Amino acid sequence: MRHLMSPLDLSVEELDKLLDLANDIEKNPDKYAHACDGKKLATCFYEPSTRTRLSFEAAMLNLGGSVLGFASADSSSASKGESVSDTIRVISCYADICAIRHPKEGAALVASQKSLIPVINAGDGGHQHPTQTLTDLLTIRTLKGRLSDITIGLCGDLKFGRTVHSLINALIRYKNVKFVLISPEELRVPDYIREDVLRANNVEFEEVERLEDAMSKLDVLYMTRVQKERFFNEEDYVRLKDYYVLTKEKMQLAKEDMLVLHPLPRVNEISVEVDDDPRAAYFKQAQYGVYVRMALILTLLGLAE
Ligand code: NCD
Repeated sequence: MRHLMSPLDLSVEELDKLLDLANDIEKNPDKYAHACDGKKLATCFYEPSTRTRLSFEAAMLNLGGSVLGFASADSSSASKGESVSDTIRVISCYADICAIRHPKEGAALVASQKSLIPVINAGDGGHQHPTQTLTDLLTIRTLKGRLSDITIGLCGDLKFGRTVHSLINALIRYKNVKFVLISPEELRVPDYIREDVLRANNVEFEEVERLEDAMSKLDVLYMTRVQKERFFNEEDYVRLKDYYVLTKEKMQLAKEDMLVLHPLPRVNEISVEVDDDPRAAYFKQAQYGVYVRMALILTLLGLAE
């Protein structure tokens, strides 16, 4: 039985196959409309979500399966004090596969150790978010045609942003990927990402504070929201929340074919006027999230060809 805790749980070859499958699903949705007939997906969300939970549910429904689950800790027995381990044991009796999101780092891993069904980490605190990374990789590969030979700027909350941590982990496996890490001093990537992931693998990267300084060299700009819920005090959040705002003017500094990605939700970090720019790919990215989750469900259930 396979789980997905980190993007590194899939080899580069497996990942390629999964992205190929997602592209095929996009082109031939009818072929997959009954692939999961009779199967159930449980979504156990202890933290707010719109895209991740609903795209998982849409993915399973598109495959002909059904969904069950809860959308907040308050509406589950967690509010009565039940442990994640006990909850997953029980969910294993009700469903064939489970996606779990939890505010604590490592919660999905704990669940996977007690589970009788495949568990997918749908975000564990400020740690990892592997299915967002699959979405990001599919978006970049489909729209740019490659995952190697790119310079990617990651901008905003690189400290708490789990999507950033997972994406860096995944992209260092491709050739000639360069990172420009754009953040205020206080929101720089955690030391383990800088040392154990980037430096240890001899990956080229630089850390800068001004978005304007990075813009012209980027093939992909990955904007992120300042992660309000992970701050220890409101004052720091308020001071940092509008540190970066991507505007039409700043887009003029970018390459003609630079892609703008964002895992969403957006707060103020991308001005709505950028939405009409052909380089803005964040809503397309949300659509790709459904195809890639369909491919992942098929793969973990052993139903992919
Ligand atoms: C991200 C998350 O939950 O980490 N959202 C998502 O899943 N698309 C990003 C965020 O909340 O800022």
